[in-house]
Amino acid sequence: MSEEQSITYIAQSGGHLSGQIRVPGDKSISHRSIMLGSLSEGRMTITGFLQGEDSLATLRAFRSMGVQIEGPDAQGKVVIEGVGMHGLKVPDGPLDLGNSGTSMRLLTGLLAAQGFDITLSGDHSLSSRPMKRVTDPVMQMGAHIETDTNGTAPLLIHSNNETQLKGINYTLPMASAQVKSCVLLAGLYARGQTCVTEPAPTRDHTERMLQGFGYTLDVKKLDEQRSQICLQGGGQLTACDIDVPSDISSAAFFMVGASISQGSDITLNHVGINPTRIGVINILKLMGADITLSNEKEVGGEPVADIRIRYARLKGIHIPEDQVPLAIDEFPAISIAAACAQGQTVLTGAEELRVKESDRIQAMVDGMKILGIDCAGTEDGMIINGGEFTSGIVDSLGDHRIAMSFAMAALKAEGSITINDCANVNTSFPDFIALAQSCGLQVNSIAGD
Ligand code: S3P
Repeated sequence: MSEEQSITYIAQSGGHLSGQIRVPGDKSISHRSIMLGSLSEGRMTITGFLQGEDSLATLRAFRSMGVQIEGPDAQGKVVIEGVGMHGLKVPDGPLDLGNSGTSMRLLTGLLAAQGFDITLSGDHSLSSRPMKRVTDPVMQMGAHIETDTNGTAPLLIHSNNETQLKGINYTLPMASAQVKSCVLLAGLYARGQTCVTEPAPTRDHTERMLQGFGYTLDVKKLDEQRSQICLQGGGQLTACDIDVPSDISSAAFFMVGASISQGSDITLNHVGINPTRIGVINILKLMGADITLSNEKEVGGEPVADIRIRYARLKGIHIPEDQVPLAIDEFPAISIAAACAQGQTVLTGAEELRVKESDRIQAMVDGMKILGIDCAGTEDGMIINGGEFTSGIVDSLGDHRIAMSFAMAALKAEGSITINDCANVNTSFPDFIALAQSCGLQVNSIAGD
């Protein structure tokens, strides 16, 4: 797996971004297309599937549970022969989900009512991330799951053949699409109705895709922020082809890179602009970024557009808290924009960043301080004073998004930036180096032992 070889990035200072590129497929949608495709009745085709380690971990998991999956080929085409809701088979051993929180959390719900015991395991980072947020509600539904003493992986999900799950009414304690999706997927197997209330909008790809596969959902807005999603257990999924848009979370690095480097003018084609994911566009625009959308259309139930970004002078802002869940994966990149902006940027209400693939508040603050930026971490966010990046060696802590964010910082740095521990960029963006080079970032990757 990607963790075995150490990869260092060296990004030279200066340059700008230009041209037209297409970043890889959306990670969240890629995971869900394998999961729902596998459980559906019939044959389905995925195009634009993300060939990153995370989504491949989901693909391998379903293959090892007996699902026939062809591909992905070089174009990201995957063909799945769905086995139906009750067609999964006992795998030979534990399912190794690598670095992928989405795989582990969604599978916890989906596998809570299978007729076999199953163990979910992951790498060092995944094994230290909180899992009680998913095991608690699924156990309330009647599942039997053992975690490590800290509520972490490995997770042993016991066979639940005889005592079927029962539907619950669950209010999410935090704005998390993974927890919401986990409970809804368990709800497919539960007696009666399962309802999830979310405290703020989170990505709704599970809901959209379930409906695309013919499953009825009842979605109600309770007020400005809260929504309730309900479904009845015991239904079926009808196979449906999925065209995966480019991942706005991968596009975000280029949006920030172009915004901070003079002379930049880049277009990112066919990017998913689901309203629950566009916090990064909203936040960068509030900071003064020059971003325009064109060719807006809908593919397979998800809105997409081409996004053009030109250099602009950015200013510091207090990031509106309602944008936080809509940009939750983009704060490493947004921090780089904030460090290049005039004035102070304040992020609050983002304590979830502490339990991502790394503690992203700490990782960004430590790295930016090394690069000469005046910034500080708080319990639930960061305070960043705009300045000039110097040069230096930073640690990505094995977190793909930290690595790619610091690579973009080099566009606006006085000297080169060396970033250690970058192998996990492969989890979400396998061709990052080549694509970034093709549009003007002078970055190289060096493999060590
Ligand atoms: C994801 C949800 C988010 C996000 C993650 C992908 C998903 O996690 O950070 O990268 O696909 O549902 P949380 O649910 O923990 O916020």
